[in-house]
Amino acid sequence: MSTVHVLNHPLIQHKLSYIRDKRTGTKDFRALVDEVAALMAFEVTRDLPVEEVEVETPVGPATVKKLSGKKLGLIPILRAGIGMSEGILRMIPAARVGHVGLYRDPETLQPHEYYVKLPNDVEERELLVIDPMLATGGSVVEAINSLKKRGAKSMRLICLVAAPEGVRYVQEAHPDVDIYLAALDEKLNEKGYIVPGLGDAGDRLFGTK
Ligand code: URA
Repeated sequence: MSTVHVLNHPLIQHKLSYIRDKRTGTKDFRALVDEVAALMAFEVTRDLPVEEVEVETPVGPATVKKLSGKKLGLIPILRAGIGMSEGILRMIPAARVGHVGLYRDPETLQPHEYYVKLPNDVEERELLVIDPMLATGGSVVEAINSLKKRGAKSMRLICLVAAPEGVRYVQEAHPDVDIYLAALDEKLNEKGYIVPGLGDAGDRLFGTK
C-alpha cells in the first residue's frame, strides 16, 4: 500500500490558511497556491538519490552532491493542476511537463480523457502528478491509468487538500503511487466538495464562475 504524506510544515500550513479563507481573492489565491506548491516540491523530492561529484570552487576542490536518479516529469491534470505546476517547476526547472485533460460524462459521471500530451521518454521519468483537490479520486485514478497505459512506471501524486474517500480510492487503484498532501480534510459533501476544503480550486485560481 502506498504512503500518504501530510506536509505539516509551518509555512505550508500558514499559507494554506489564507488559501482556504473565502475572502482571499484570485490574485492572492493564485500566488499562495504557487508558493505552497514550491514548498511542497521541497518535501516531495526529499528522498531523490544523489551522487558525489568533484568541482573546483574558487578556493579549491570540493566534493558536492548532484541528483543522480531518474529525470523528473511534471503532469498537471487540467485545469486546476496548472495552478501548482509553475511553483514546482521553479524548483525543478529541468523537468519536462506533460498534461492530462479529463471531462466527466454527464450521464455516467465517469471521467474520460480528452487531451494527453506527454514527454516522449515518459517511461524513464519519475512523474509528479499534480491536482490540487483530491475529492472522489475519480479523475486522478483515470489520469494515472492514462499515464500507465502510455508507459509511465513511477510516479508520486501531489495535492493541496484531499478527502479520505479520494485517498482510499487512489490507494486501492494505484498502491504504487505515494500521495503528498498539504491537508487531509474531513469528508466530501453531497455536491462532491471537500469539507472544509477551499471551494472550487479551478474557479478560484482562474477567476471563473
Ligand atoms: N474540486 C474542487 O475544486 N474542490 C473540491 O472541493 C472538490 C473538487
